[in-house]
Amino acid sequence: MVDATFGAGGYTRAILKTGATVIAFDRDPDAIREGRAAGIEGLTLVHSDFSAMEAAIDAPVDGLTMDIGVSSMQLDQAERGFSFQSDGPLDMRMAQDGPSAADFLNTADEEAIADVLYQYGDEPKSRRVARAIVAARPLTRTGELATVVRKALGHRPHDKKDPATRTFQAIRIHVNRDPAAGWRW
Ligand SMILES: C[S@@+](CC[C@H](N)C(=O)[O-])C[C@H]1O[C@@H](n2cnc3c(N)ncnc32)[C@H](O)[C@@H]1O
Repeated sequence: MVDATFGAGGYTRAILKTGATVIAFDRDPDAIREGRAAGIEGLTLVHSDFSAMEAAIDAPVDGLTMDIGVSSMQLDQAERGFSFQSDGPLDMRMAQDGPSAADFLNTADEEAIADVLYQYGDEPKSRRVARAIVAARPLTRTGELATVVRKALGHRPHDKKDPATRTFQAIRIHVNRDPAAGWRW
């Protein structure tokens, strides 16, 4: 079986319990390091984007799972810069490689930022948020970005959903897009 998104290995461990062997992928070096350190029997762990799985698998495969998204390990570690709930460097790179969220937000033009917020975050006020981001540059911390977005959109303390949620989702998706798929800013 293939686990395309190993993370903390919950899916892989459950699949191994059925008696299958597993080849698992993750682009995050921390997930791979921790998975290897656990010494899990029956598991081959590959540090790679899952888009390269075809080249990495040379045996017949019976099934595949993809649990796509950010992992709780990534969200919980403030220094990875994914979370607006705890302050950290504005990073958000799953592979810990390439341009970070700060690189994007501090260099892209306002229109490109608005497009990302609209396309990947469904942010209806994308232009207003992009304008506020550009006016507040340079941004280096997740806490700063969250404050800028909340101010731009008006944050009421009892709002069910933090107004920064859509912006963080959009930037996370953009920063982690496959460059081969043609991202640019
Ligand atoms: C939601 S977590 C998976 C959690 C996992 N199912 C578990 O039980 O612990 C998603 C994982 O997929 C990884 N990931 C996201 N996009 C990826 C990609 N294109 N290639 C490889 N891994 C990716 C992330 O680094 C993250 O560790």
